[in-house]
Amino acid sequence: MIDEIGAARETALTQVAAADSLESVTMLGTQLLGKKGPLAQLKTKLGGLSTVDEKKAAGSAVNEAIQVVTAALEFRNIELSEAALAARVQFESIDLTEYADRPTRGHAHVVTQAWERLEDVFIGLGFQVAEGPEVETDWHNFEALNMGEGHPARGEFDTLFVDHAPAGGQPGRTLLRTHTSPVQIRTMLEQEPPIYIVAPGRVFRRDTPDATHMPVFHQIEGLVIDRNITMADLAGTIEAFTKAFFGADFSSRLRPSYFPFTEPSAEFDIQRPDGSWLELGGCGMVHPNVLIAGGLDPEQWSGFAFGFGIDRMAVMRHQVADIRDMYVNDIRFIEQF
Ligand code: PHE
Repeated sequence: MIDEIGAARETALTQVAAADSLESVTMLGTQLLGKKGPLAQLKTKLGGLSTVDEKKAAGSAVNEAIQVVTAALEFRNIELSEAALAARVQFESIDLTEYADRPTRGHAHVVTQAWERLEDVFIGLGFQVAEGPEVETDWHNFEALNMGEGHPARGEFDTLFVDHAPAGGQPGRTLLRTHTSPVQIRTMLEQEPPIYIVAPGRVFRRDTPDATHMPVFHQIEGLVIDRNITMADLAGTIEAFTKAFFGADFSSRLRPSYFPFTEPSAEFDIQRPDGSWLELGGCGMVHPNVLIAGGLDPEQWSGFAFGFGIDRMAVMRHQVADIRDMYVNDIRFIEQF
C-alpha cells in the first residue's frame, strides 16, 4: 500500500512538472485531487488494511502525498504566471532607444520671422514698438485719419464690420482695422511727443483670397512726431531702413501719391542690386487734421508716417508665386524658410 501511494505521488508530481500552461495546471488539480483522483481512490482502500498501525501509516502517507501534490500545483501555477507576465512585459515594452535621434525642431513662420526682423531693425534705428487693437472704432480707423463719413477713400478699404450693436455700440461703427494707421492716433493720444514708434500687426479687408490678396494680412506702421520734422527726415529714414533691412547695395525712392492722412503723400520703392524696383508701401507727412485728432498742435509739432505689408514684402523677397501658400501651413512650404 505504501509503495502504491509513493508511486501515485511520483506520477502526480511528474505530471505537474510537465504542465505547460495555467489551464493545464487547473485541469490537473481537479484530476489529481478530485474525488475520483488516484489519491482519493487510495484513501478509500485504507479501510481494507488489517492493522491499525498499517492504517495509520498508510493514512498519513496519503495525506502527505496530497499536501505535496497540492504544493507542487501551487508552485507550478506561480511559475507559469510569472513566465506569462514576463512574456507580456517583453511583448508590450517600448524600445526607447528607437527615439534616440534628436527630434526635429520647428521654427518661426516666415511672416513671423519678417515681423521680428523688422522690429529689430527699427529698434536699431531708435524706434519703439507700439500696439493697437484689431477690433477698432470707425473713428480711430477712418474719422481721425481724415477720412470722414462719405470720404471716397473709405471704399478702397473693403471694411469688415463687427456687429457691436447688441452690446450697446452704434451699428456699423465697430470694425476690424483695415490698416495699422489707427495706432498713430492711439499713440498720439497716449504719449507726449517726441514719438518714434513702429506698430506691426494684423489687418483685415473684405477680399476674396487669390494669388495676391488675403482677407487677413500684416502691416507695419511707422510714426515720428517731433519738432521741425520734414520730408527729408522721412526720405532719410526710409533709406536708412532699406540699407539696414535689405542690405547696403539696396536703395529707395519716393514717388508722389495720395493718402487722406498724409500731406504730401508718397509711395516708396526699393531698388534691388540688379536695378529692378519693388513697390513697398505708402508714406507722407502727417496731415494737420490727423495731428489735431491726436490732440497735438500742428503749429508746434510735425511728423511723418509710413506703412507697408509684411507678408507682401516676404512674398517678394522669397519670390513666392501665390500669397495663399503663406497661410495653408503645408509643412513642405513652411520648412523652406
Ligand atoms: N495705411 C496705408 C495703407 O494701408 C499705408 C500708409 C501708412 C500710408 C502711413 C501713409 C502713411 O495702405
